[in-house]
Amino acid sequence: MEFTIIGGAPDKQRVPCVVAGVFDKRKLAETAAQLDQASHQYIRRIIKRGDLDGRCGQTLMLHQIPGTAAERILLIGCGPKNELSDNKYREIVAKAVTTLNDAGVTEAASYLAEIPTPDRGLDWKVRQLVETAENTLYRFDRLKSKPDASAAVLCSLRVAIANPRDASAAKESLREGRAIAAGVRLAKDLANLPSNHCTPAYLADEARRLQKRYAALKVEVLGVAQIKRLRMGAFLAVARGSREPPALIIVQYRGAPAAQAPVALVGKGITFDSGGISIKPAAAMDEMKYDMCGAASVLGTLRAVAELRLPINLVGLIPATENMPGGNAVKPGDIVTSLSGQTIEILNTDAEGRLVLCDTLTYSRRFKPGVVIDIATLTGACVVALGQHASGLLSNHEPLAAALLAAGGRSGDRAWQLPLWEDYQKQLDSRFADFANVGGREAGSITAACFLARFAKDLKWAHLDIAGTAWRTGNKKGATGRPVPLLVQFLLDRVRKPEDHAPG
Ligand code: BES
Ligand code: MN
Ligand code: ZN
Repeated sequence: MEFTIIGGAPDKQRVPCVVAGVFDKRKLAETAAQLDQASHQYIRRIIKRGDLDGRCGQTLMLHQIPGTAAERILLIGCGPKNELSDNKYREIVAKAVTTLNDAGVTEAASYLAEIPTPDRGLDWKVRQLVETAENTLYRFDRLKSKPDASAAVLCSLRVAIANPRDASAAKESLREGRAIAAGVRLAKDLANLPSNHCTPAYLADEARRLQKRYAALKVEVLGVAQIKRLRMGAFLAVARGSREPPALIIVQYRGAPAAQAPVALVGKGITFDSGGISIKPAAAMDEMKYDMCGAASVLGTLRAVAELRLPINLVGLIPATENMPGGNAVKPGDIVTSLSGQTIEILNTDAEGRLVLCDTLTYSRRFKPGVVIDIATLTGACVVALGQHASGLLSNHEPLAAALLAAGGRSGDRAWQLPLWEDYQKQLDSRFADFANVGGREAGSITAACFLARFAKDLKWAHLDIAGTAWRTGNKKGATGRPVPLLVQFLLDRVRKPEDHAPG
């Protein structure tokens, strides 16, 4: 979709549709009031009949209103004034966009960035408008023989602002919103693509496509021979059960002088997780095509950062493989030596994410990163603990955790911190190796992070468990593109407020 910033009065917009908000108890927001005046109280009279009382998400499409230039006006309920939360704002935008699209509107002027919100400014609203509009109209129908009937017809949204002095800031927010939305879209597309299409080689190709598009990106892909030569024994243990060759994908983004330590993003790239020999039950196993959502979010974030030309250095590291129970597969009880030299007793082959991640965390050290963040659909336990609303956050560096939590809040892509206390470490004790890859039934998300922490010592490291947030199940099944918005916000904050946000 195309987005532009416009000014001017709502009654003068010569477009197929103008969108304006109405608060609870039929209180017209500024734009609706202007339209009302231009139409000699036509709007007030219609509303009085009871068609719309302003409850959040209510809509009313009006045609050919006298005194106004647009063909239609879409009124949308915004709920009680002064109670417009972040979530409500997104709901309103989503409802408006769906209504426009369903009505066959191709082009609209939205005044929703001008709705007063108690906690957020114009920049935030402009950005959320773009991101929410793109999210709402997203469909994944490229593998259907005919496109979805509900395909997007709305292709241009003009975002109206009242004060021309805000135009340049609004344009910058629009640019950010577009870049984030493009990153989210890439992450969703990769994640929704099934594992017979989205293989480790496909992920590597996608990285190379990004390199072609953005000069600031440099891609390197290590194959199985190189992974062996490096002695990434934990990663290889997972890869050996599959016919599909693994890949370690390295994407470097240079936006700052080489002396500036990069941020390293490590994304779990299990293109299908069958569980391996510790095979999973059949129910919902299809969703394990989403076990590469961490990898997808790394590529999505790189895309957004490259698009925005952020003045930072960034390196994305993706261990990509299937987890399959082939004849050569690793077996419960097997002991492998990780790249760090620490030995691991693999008691459950379904705890494979931490195995591919631990070697990649060790590998990340060669980039001398300022901070390392891994992103992984790591544990079912995280879904039990936090559900679909918050990603789990565990970190060995409090300022980094605080910066990620703050970025989550602002972007609406929130995380919630869990403790990474020493106390949990002994659940990983092994009689035969340095430690085991599973820590028992209790606190599964924490013990998974405890395992990773053993490879992140003296790194400033954080772990995002996105098992609950990366995709939706049920009849709305589909990838969300999370946590691309959180990660891009975190990086934007590092650029803008290095003194209080850049940990290290
Ligand atoms: N990819 C899964 C985690 C997962 C499961 C995410 C279901 C979302 C929904 C991961 O590889 C896994 O299988 N984890 C195990 C760990 C256990 C064996 C310690 C789990 O969570 O059951
Ligand atoms: Mn697994
Ligand atoms: Zn997995």
